[in-house]
Amino acid sequence: MGSPAPASELERRPEETLRASAVSRSFEGVRALQEVTLELHRHEVVGLVGPNGAGKSTLVNLLTGFDLPTSGTVELRGREITRWSAHRRTRSGLARTFQHSRSFRALSVRENVEVAALGVGARGREARRRAEELLERLALTALADVRADSLAQGDERRLGVARALVTEPAFVLMDEPAAGLPEAEVPEFAAVVRAVRDDHRAGVLLIDHNMALVMGVCDRIHVLDQGRTLAAGTPEEIRGDLNVAAAYLGETAVDTDA
Ligand SMILES: Nc1ncnc2c1ncn2[C@@H]1O[C@H](COP(=O)(O)OP(=O)(O)O)[C@@H](O)[C@H]1O
Ligand SMILES: [Mg+2]
Repeated sequence: MGSPAPASELERRPEETLRASAVSRSFEGVRALQEVTLELHRHEVVGLVGPNGAGKSTLVNLLTGFDLPTSGTVELRGREITRWSAHRRTRSGLARTFQHSRSFRALSVRENVEVAALGVGARGREARRRAEELLERLALTALADVRADSLAQGDERRLGVARALVTEPAFVLMDEPAAGLPEAEVPEFAAVVRAVRDDHRAGVLLIDHNMALVMGVCDRIHVLDQGRTLAAGTPEEIRGDLNVAAAYLGETAVDTDA
C-alpha cells in the first residue's frame, strides 16, 4: 500500500482548507488556547494531541462554531467564518464528533444517523440509503435497531463518527472517536479514517490518546500543551521531539484510559 499520500498541491489551495489563525480562548482567567494556528487540507489526516486540558476540544469547538474565540479567526475555503453558526458550517461541509455523547438517546442507532443526514437536506429515501451505508462502514449494522443510550462507549463513539460522515463533509473533526474502543477494533477504525481521506478526499482532524493509532494514520501531527502549540510536523518529526515526549508521552505512560 505504501505510505499515505500527502495532500496534493491542489488540495493545499485556500479553497480546500479549513484554517484557525492565531486563535485564543480564555475562560475566566484560564487561557485554554493561546494564539494557535492550524490548517487542515482536504485529503489529509492531521492528528491533534496533547495532555488533558491542553485545549484540543476547545479548538474543535472554535472551528465548528460551538464556541467563539476571544481573538483570532477561522476560515473555510478562504472565507472568514469565525462567527458562523454551527449549523451553517455543517451545511458548508464541516462535520464533527463529540467527546461526550450528543446522540438522541431515545432514538435507535439507525434513526440517529438518518436524522443527521436529514439535517443537511438529504430527503427521506436518500437519508435512509446513506445511513445504511455508514452503519455498514462503521460495523454498526447489527446494532441498527438498538437505542443509542444503551450502547457501549466504543459503539457510541462510532455512532458519532457515522453521524458526522453521513453529512458527506469536506472536513471532519473527530474528538477522541476511538476512546473505549477495544484494542482489537482499533485497526478497523484506522481503516475507516484512511478511507474518509482517500475515498472521500475529506480532511480529517483526529484527536486521540492512542499514539499508535495517531502515528499510524496521520499525515501530520499538531501538539498542544497548556493552550499553546508545542510542536507540529510529520509523525517522524514528532516522534523525535523530546519536548513532546516529556509533555505528552510521559503522561500517557500513566494514563490507563479506563
Ligand atoms: N466551557 C468552559 N468553561 C470553563 N473552562 C473551560 C471550558 N471549556 C474548557 N475549559 C478549560 O479550558 C482548558 C482546555 O480544555 P479542553 O479544550 O477541554 O482540553 P482537552 O480537550 O485538550 O482536554 C481546560 O483548562 C478546561 O478546564
Ligand atoms: Mg477534550
